[in-house]
Amino acid sequence: MSSRRFSSRRLNGPSRHDLTSTCREAAALTFYQHPTEMVRLGIEPRKGLVLYGPSGCSKTLIAKAVATEAGLNFIAVKGAELVSMYVGESERAVREVFRKARAASPSIIFFDEIDAMGASRAGPTQHGSLNIVTTLLNELDGIELLKRVFVLAATNRPETLDPALLRPGRLDTVLYVGLPDFEARLEIIKMRLGKMAIDDDIDAVLLAGATEGYSGAEVVSICHKAGYAALEDQVSSGIRQRVGRKHFEIATAEVQRGVTAEMLQMYENWGAKRT
Ligand SMILES: Nc1ncnc2c1ncn2[C@@H]1O[C@H](COP(=O)(O)OP(=O)(O)OP(=O)(O)O)[C@@H](O)[C@H]1O
Ligand SMILES: [Mg+2]
Repeated sequence: MSSRRFSSRRLNGPSRHDLTSTCREAAALTFYQHPTEMVRLGIEPRKGLVLYGPSGCSKTLIAKAVATEAGLNFIAVKGAELVSMYVGESERAVREVFRKARAASPSIIFFDEIDAMGASRAGPTQHGSLNIVTTLLNELDGIELLKRVFVLAATNRPETLDPALLRPGRLDTVLYVGLPDFEARLEIIKMRLGKMAIDDDIDAVLLAGATEGYSGAEVVSICHKAGYAALEDQVSSGIRQRVGRKHFEIATAEVQRGVTAEMLQMYENWGAKRT
């Protein structure tokens, strides 16, 4: 098993549970708490927040958890789906999303992979992205109408986002969702092991220790591949197998860590620039 180290614990950030609570509380504050006091003190409700971090580290999962736990109307939109529409259609679709959200308020709009639609207007122009960003900015600025609509967005390419989207008063709160820490990996592994016929030599704690530096999606993939390795054993030996430690060793050797130290550094630098 690889011994590549990821030195900074800080890069893991808060736990998924904490992040989910933070998102939920931010939305709840916007919707319910102290409305008259907020008006008296001149506080604008927060319009939304952006989850950023490496691929496969549960940003989408967190947003979905917020939706189910908050019990609010939830409109999910994938950035790429909007951008792939005909010229002019994407802008109309963005306005329609906000219209629906207002009609169904209190509600949460979730723009997953927002980088596809919110790419910097200064950068290389993607198909129609300039107008989509402008439409998005206009909708976010429609402050009166935005009451009781909370925007959650996720991206693994925060550096490509148009800074105007993140300006104070818009999506000005960003939350880092990093690689899963030991506890998070243990949770994923226990959850997967619960669905597998496993051998006595399997130790979830050891596996969690051996999967440092893998994303959540990669940890899940290791569990899948271990299952396949056991099946292959069974087919070649003709003997019924359980998933054992050796199968996990094969699987861990097969799955590469997709998130590099350089990538983590990039996220850290981007986050540091915003604080
Ligand atoms: N903490 C976790 N608990 C359980 N499963 C996890 C966890 N983190 C990641 N996974 C697994 O990884 C998959 C990918 O996670 P998710 O789609 O939320 O990542 P993401 O951060 O949105 O990635 P991307 O930036 O590529 O969209 C999930 O569907 C799930 O199977
Ligand atoms: Mg995602």
